[in-house]
Amino acid sequence: MRTAAQVGKLAERWRRAGMRVGLVPTMGALHKGHLSLVSLALGETDRVIVSIFVNPSQFGPGEDLSSYPGIFDEDLMKLEEAGAHCVFSPSVDEIYPDGFSTSINVSGLTETLCGKYRPGHFDGVATVCAVLFSIVRPDIAVFGRKDAQQLAVIRRMNDDLRFGVEILAGEIIRESDGLAMSSRNSYLSPGERVQASAIYNGLSRAAELVSEGERDDVRIYDAVREVIGKAPLATIQYLELVDPDTMKPLSKLTTPGLLAVAVYFGHTRLIDNVILKP
Ligand code: PAF
Repeated sequence: MRTAAQVGKLAERWRRAGMRVGLVPTMGALHKGHLSLVSLALGETDRVIVSIFVNPSQFGPGEDLSSYPGIFDEDLMKLEEAGAHCVFSPSVDEIYPDGFSTSINVSGLTETLCGKYRPGHFDGVATVCAVLFSIVRPDIAVFGRKDAQQLAVIRRMNDDLRFGVEILAGEIIRESDGLAMSSRNSYLSPGERVQASAIYNGLSRAAELVSEGERDDVRIYDAVREVIGKAPLATIQYLELVDPDTMKPLSKLTTPGLLAVAVYFGHTRLIDNVILKP
């Protein structure tokens, strides 16, 4: 479906028939991580709508909006196989018609991690999710834990604006060498792809240290940097230990912490994270 009116009417019809409606927002180029979100939604609802929309407002100048992978026909096939009931793939004008002037800023959660390096990114994410929630009015919406900061921002926006959508989180799905699945993995050269597993190895080292009793942020950072540093093609953009709900920095691990990392391989920026439990 291409228009908001079509998908809104369909969701309304389902709701009137007493069905629970789930929404899985995506930007397409779907992989097993996305499909696991669809399957989570299918387990919780009667009808699942998947949106495919490469949202221009969450890309900054010089980011990969124009090269973002688009494989729409393959995506449709995967979604049909996964059992999704409807695909909503609006045009940019459908989401942002002429005169659209609203931007949602979720302050407080967006100053650390990706928010520090991608100004305006989370405003774009929050705004498009608010528009999608208004169009579909889903009972639940599912997002992946790989984008942990995005998840926190959407939960806050949903609570603050009283959308009443139940937000569910899907676990990070990994390749066999531990690399978190991402549409952007397709940008990696073969050499970069081999080295990209260093991200997971670094995060796993942190979890190991914590299980051995380490609580100090700096010693955890040093150990992770050492492991990721073994991949010569990797450049760490940030490595931060934060509170998983507030995204505020933690210096001692006395409560569960989110250790999040962004790493460049060439022009490709990959993110990943782990929850460290003391
Ligand atoms: O995670 C994504 O794919 C996007 O940020 C989202 C949530 C679909 C909003 O455009």
